[in-house]
Amino acid sequence: MKRAFALAMLLAAPAFAADGDRLYTEHCAACHGADRLGAIGPALLPENLGRLKKAEAARVIAEGRAATRMDGFGAKLNAEQIAALTDYVFSPPAAVPDWGMAEIEATRTVHAEPAKLDRPAFTADPLNLFTVVETGDHHVTILDGDRMEPVARFASRFALHGGAKYSPDGRFVYLASRDGWVSKYDMWTGTLLAEVRAGINTRNVAASHDGRYLAVGNVLPNTLVILDAVDLHPMDIIAVAGEKGERSRVSAVYTAPPRSSFMVALKDVPEMWELTYKDGADPVYRGFVHNYEAGMAEGLADNSRFPIRRIRLSEPLDDFFFDLPYRNAIGAARDGKSGRVVNLTTGREIATIDLPGMPHLGSGITWTYQGRPVMASPHLKEAVVSIIDMTTWKTIKRLPTLGPGFFMRGHERSPYAWIDVSLGKDKDAIQIIDTTTLEIVKTLRPRPGRTAAHVEFSRDGRFALVSIMEDQGELIVYDAASFEEIKALPMRRPSGKYNVFNKITYSSGTSH
Ligand code: HEC
Repeated sequence: MKRAFALAMLLAAPAFAADGDRLYTEHCAACHGADRLGAIGPALLPENLGRLKKAEAARVIAEGRAATRMDGFGAKLNAEQIAALTDYVFSPPAAVPDWGMAEIEATRTVHAEPAKLDRPAFTADPLNLFTVVETGDHHVTILDGDRMEPVARFASRFALHGGAKYSPDGRFVYLASRDGWVSKYDMWTGTLLAEVRAGINTRNVAASHDGRYLAVGNVLPNTLVILDAVDLHPMDIIAVAGEKGERSRVSAVYTAPPRSSFMVALKDVPEMWELTYKDGADPVYRGFVHNYEAGMAEGLADNSRFPIRRIRLSEPLDDFFFDLPYRNAIGAARDGKSGRVVNLTTGREIATIDLPGMPHLGSGITWTYQGRPVMASPHLKEAVVSIIDMTTWKTIKRLPTLGPGFFMRGHERSPYAWIDVSLGKDKDAIQIIDTTTLEIVKTLRPRPGRTAAHVEFSRDGRFALVSIMEDQGELIVYDAASFEEIKALPMRRPSGKYNVFNKITYSSGTSH
């Protein structure tokens, strides 16, 4: 009896994975898609679940998520079955799903044409609006930056990330979701205009400064997708790969307005790309990267409608910062100890910056200090802000903070830079640096014990908005000169907030 049981267990063990597959099809596929690409529920692939810990995923499967359509399965399934399902959703699919022109086009919906208006349907300054992403219940609030009152609130796709991008006039906002959806909203009426799923797992979207194109950087599949900014139709899909054809994830795509180009950071190969959207582009941009549908097999033909320049690097760089004329790109080396300066005119690395402790350059800002341009960056692994002279690329100061931080913000009309220290134990603090003395002049604790992060200034630099990043969180408005709290608005885990004016003018105090 006992031996038979042991044998059965032994035989059952290899079937464990298959069990996850079967259970998934039976209980989950209806909402999360037979191929795990998502449907009513989000995609359940390892890349998409990246930020969710395995134990947390198991808890969601057992207990569900309150006030969503995700019910708990704890009563229907036993612990082993839940473990098998958790392993299953964290394992890669047998084949990388296809996501080409046909698949993308099939997901595209134009919901409405923008109404013929000269100004918003409300009385707020259209250039002082904020888009606030509330990740707690997947909503977006449009905030009037003068009165600090919401003017619209609408449901977004699941897990927006990578920041809001605007059309040059500030009327339209483009939002990308973790699962690859790009949505276009009319800020003036709070209407969803169009949507398309440009990838299965997306890093971010960039909008060209002339308002014509969007670039979507994907992790799954390894593509860069160019969309028409008007109706979101896919114009080009570029397979992202190194010179020898080795595939790479995109880590981010940025707009470089003075160059009329998109800069693309590649995660897995030592290159960065510059894709020009200038008509009749300069022959310096040699188009050798091309259409996804044609595949890599055809070789590197010069047939993309958007010529791409391949900038060779000594090693893969991530998380870029650009100087304001977009003459240089500053990227973080993988070892987390240094930054590299890449001159974009020559395509050469010109300096190494001493930046130990994993700089978060994507959140870096610049200002003028004693007549020289400086950049400042928080660090993900060290309680310090590095301040670097951008003419010599030497570190002027390593300013100790209460903890490692994530976001940093300044404004042309404010003498202060604000940082969070949310990656350390003092998660509830915000520190303020005087940009003329390079000293911390104030530490705020907006709500003791609750995580404070992501500061954004109003158009005129008079107010600084801070998120209390908790499910039942708040958005707190500070007077940016006296550091007094002016107002608090309840929000569901507010994360990023993006001021129209500061974004469309590429303010030196904010990331782009
Ligand atoms: C009735 C539809 C439905 C069914 C059936 C369903 N889910 Fe979900 N699931 C959802 C929705 C909707 C969400 C998003 C909840 C939210 O807003 O946070 C979700 C979220 C999740 C998440 C969290 C994803 C993340 O990134 O935060 C996991 C994991 C998950 N589901 C696994 C499963 C598994 C495994 C099954 C089968 C046992 C299953 N779900 C069945 C609708 C469903």
